[in-house]
Amino acid sequence: MTTLITNGTVVTATDMTRADVLVDGERIQAIGEGLAGWVKGSGADGSVSADTVIDATGRYVMPGGIDVHTHMELPFGGTFASDDFATGTAAAAWGGTTTIVDFAVQSHGESLAQGLDAWLEKAGPKSHIDYGLHLIVREINDRILREMDTMIDRGVPSFKLFMAYPGVFMLDDASIFRAMSRTADNGGLIMLHAENGGAIDVLVQRYLAEGKTAPVNHGLTRPSSMEGEATHRAIALAELAGVPVYIVHLSSREALTAVREGRDRGVPAYAETCPQYLYLSLDDLARPGFEGAKFVCSPPLRPADHQADLWRGLVTDDLQVVSTDHCPFDYKEQKILGKDDFSAIPNGLPGVEDRYTLLWDGGVAAGHISPTRFVELIATAPARMFGLYPRKGTLAPGADADIVVFNPDAERTLSAGTHHMRVDYSCYEGRKVRGLPEVVMQRGNVLVKDGKFHGQQGAGRFLERSRFGPGTA
Ligand code: URP
Ligand code: ZN
Ligand code: ZN
Repeated sequence: MTTLITNGTVVTATDMTRADVLVDGERIQAIGEGLAGWVKGSGADGSVSADTVIDATGRYVMPGGIDVHTHMELPFGGTFASDDFATGTAAAAWGGTTTIVDFAVQSHGESLAQGLDAWLEKAGPKSHIDYGLHLIVREINDRILREMDTMIDRGVPSFKLFMAYPGVFMLDDASIFRAMSRTADNGGLIMLHAENGGAIDVLVQRYLAEGKTAPVNHGLTRPSSMEGEATHRAIALAELAGVPVYIVHLSSREALTAVREGRDRGVPAYAETCPQYLYLSLDDLARPGFEGAKFVCSPPLRPADHQADLWRGLVTDDLQVVSTDHCPFDYKEQKILGKDDFSAIPNGLPGVEDRYTLLWDGGVAAGHISPTRFVELIATAPARMFGLYPRKGTLAPGADADIVVFNPDAERTLSAGTHHMRVDYSCYEGRKVRGLPEVVMQRGNVLVKDGKFHGQQGAGRFLERSRFGPGTA
């Protein structure tokens, strides 16, 4: 089965060129000008006999997106994230994302292998797109440290640790430092949820005792100074252990400053931000009535003036990745659990479907970043950082044919009425955006074309990822 994508502008993290892309089976065979004449069986007059020809005139041809931070079916806040691997990965594909890296969770008292196996069982029969897994580690002891090595051998070289959510996920500094010291030997990567959970918990109890129960108090009790403090601490611990560290869902100026200062003194500190921190703000959390609950996530949305700093961080490469932290909960059925107590609102936002277009619209179309930087943030850097490159994350001969044909001129309105995520609201309801992933392909198979979904449940493959190494990022 061959597919020829003609007349488009091919964009990678380094180049933008008018070129054709020839796909043979699951891989890209060639990229170049005038490939039509090279396809076996093509006529001397330029007629093409690839099995399928896709005309990409006026379109960008870019790598499928890689979202390295999703939570399908996450058990959290007394309920489960509303997208499972079937609905969530279909929505991802609709939005131009062809690979996710989701978080398997170690349950208290259980092994890492049990957590990993449980997630493989959930994802395998359902996923429409290729997927890797990280592990959320909830306790550290000698056995778990040894098991981290085994997980890396099974293709899971990244571990998320929490400095927040005391009693649920939070680890103390000694545990974090022990885990980091282990990755100095085994080549794993520690990812940190960096908020000072202890101080935040005191504030939460104080606010509730004062009768402050509305959603906006979620943001007010998790100040950006406490994200900055934890980010600084995480980087200092990594520096002491002599390992790289990756800060997840960075939301604030203070946290970005901690990353930049660490990088400036030579620490291999990396960080991602998410569209919600670039486009939404504390004002959304403060919407009237209970509507702010739709925007409850941690770290919380910040005052709007943090956004310019985050955009600058994306330009200067102090932020290397844009992921979503996709963790949807229905407004009517699930967010409502915190009607009288903001701390009981399940934390998390939907976003896996919107990332590609939102970053294009607010980033490229608005003039913040170039198309090549867009590709780097949305696909290439995540692939490099998380052991998927060069099989994924770029367009090159031999790479998986995970391809998006993107129409930059299509205008549309984001809405829960038209999105495919299994959640009853959109954080971006009514927002007009420019850009549409018109054709989405994984390993040569069309997932989305002509406004129709052609994917198949269970067709996504588990990706064994390689470990983080020198020169990886
Ligand atoms: O609010 C969030 N971010 N929910 C998902 C869990 C996490 O901390 O990433
Ligand atoms: Zn987190
Ligand atoms: Zn998350």
